[in-house]
Amino acid sequence: MSDPLGPGAAHPAQPSLTRLPAWQALQAHFEALRGTTLRELFAADPARGERLTAEGAGLFLDYSKNRVTDETLALLLRLVRETGVEARRDALFAGERINVTEDRAVLHPALRAPRGAVMEVGGQNVVPAVHEVLGRMGAFADRVRGGTWLGATGKPLRNVVNIGIGGSDLGPVMAYEALKHYADRRLTLRFVSNVDGTDLTEKTLGLDPEETLFIVSSKTFTTQETMANAESARTWLLAGLGNVADEGAAIARHFVAVSTNAEAVAGFGIDTANMFGFWDWVGGRYSLDSAIGLSLMIAVGPERFGELLAGFHEMDEHFRTAPLEGNLPVLLAVLGVWYRNFFGAQTHAVLPYDQYLAHFPAYLQQLDMESNGKHVTLDGQAVDYDTGPVVWGQPGTNGQHAFYQLIHQGTTLIPCDFIGFCQTLNPLPTPEGPLHHDLLMANVFAQTEALAFGKTLEQVQAGGGVKSALAPHRVFEGNRPTNTLLADRLTPRLLGALIALYEHKVFVQGAIWNINSFDQWGVELGKVLAGKIVPELTAAGEPDLDHDSSTNALIRRYRARRG
Ligand code: F6P
Repeated sequence: MSDPLGPGAAHPAQPSLTRLPAWQALQAHFEALRGTTLRELFAADPARGERLTAEGAGLFLDYSKNRVTDETLALLLRLVRETGVEARRDALFAGERINVTEDRAVLHPALRAPRGAVMEVGGQNVVPAVHEVLGRMGAFADRVRGGTWLGATGKPLRNVVNIGIGGSDLGPVMAYEALKHYADRRLTLRFVSNVDGTDLTEKTLGLDPEETLFIVSSKTFTTQETMANAESARTWLLAGLGNVADEGAAIARHFVAVSTNAEAVAGFGIDTANMFGFWDWVGGRYSLDSAIGLSLMIAVGPERFGELLAGFHEMDEHFRTAPLEGNLPVLLAVLGVWYRNFFGAQTHAVLPYDQYLAHFPAYLQQLDMESNGKHVTLDGQAVDYDTGPVVWGQPGTNGQHAFYQLIHQGTTLIPCDFIGFCQTLNPLPTPEGPLHHDLLMANVFAQTEALAFGKTLEQVQAGGGVKSALAPHRVFEGNRPTNTLLADRLTPRLLGALIALYEHKVFVQGAIWNINSFDQWGVELGKVLAGKIVPELTAAGEPDLDHDSSTNALIRRYRARRG
């Protein structure tokens, strides 16, 4: 791998991962297998497409179109065992402080544990507190949905605007879009995240302040973007309401908060009676199923939200108890490690064939890249192997007409996850007969087939009519690996299972790489520098700039032209 610390940077003691017997066996096995094609693997084993599959929590995984043999899988699972993944998984579920750099437990599975379950942090069962908050969220959501939570001028609130960023935005917006089919369409849901004033301006456009509820969602309640947007939303609201006698009372009707920081919530002026709490053992990117999901709960109702949690829990149980050989998160994780660390794949594409899942790749980007974008091991040693890949994607079939060309015929290996459903929520027929959905799913199967098996020069020539000079352009090498995840129908329960699948996949990979998947120090430096630069942009007199010459010059140019 390229050295992120720069050429010649001193690397302390060699981390142990690459010296493990399983790793070394995988390296030797890779050298032997790298020339074998998927065509050959399928030809050698006619049952492969049915054999290399697994199922759990409503999700069926076909991983047969991967460049693996039974031996590869056995070695990868040996690596799981040698790296102690199972013990780390058990430590997670036991509420141990596995986020060592922040000295915190990582217990998002408690957010979806059934009432009556026992999950402890520091010797205290946290499940009753989870259900207490869920109960309060449910009561509030029912009042908004039922039109009995009234605004300052006595009108029911029909517009719900979530203000948050990162995990306090990506989860709610993704899940709201995913479950729109189940949402109360009389409500208008909007999500403001960017500190760019355009976001708040456009998202409040056309909304009546008298009918608008803001949910300020921030774990810390200190995040610059969210606080700036919340302040401006308050200004927008008060200006829109006109002369309210009691501003505090008006804010209390139109603003609620989701946070772990009651003091800061009160400091902002939101009544803590209207605050829905969560806990430091919930990471931002794992918080959709905490009170951070309040906007979603208002949209789809507490019952559907409960189904979502049940799906999460079902996948938690699958991950916790299924044998490694059939364990969906483990299988996805080791296949990812195989391509990342042995084939050198830089990126991983996630391609949902469902328009409702349009935001799923963006959600996974934070989940995966903020978790596993790390360059030191748990004990602070620089890694000498690659960690998290770049995760990206778009819904099919749109991507087919944009970037698939490179996946099919480019020079970069891009493993892909295809996600599809057997039943559509919108059975729209085409004039020719098949449903739109049949056309959509035909593309899933066609793409994975084409990526795996391609089209040889002989096949191109046998087709006739292609000049020999053009034939090489028509060749598809194939041998491009894919997973296919197939489920019956996009329900709240299924969505929960799907999200938990990727949460645990990321966890397993982090455990194999021996990194801390639960901190995010990498985002701090930019935040600190931005805080320093804001006054430099706005100071009345010429400020003393002590940045590098590029940054100084850019700041001066901006100051001269900002108008
Ligand atoms: O990007 C850094 C981060 O801390 C994320 O991990 C988090 O989801 C996001 O900022 C928002 O943080 P908060 O919910 O505290 O406003």
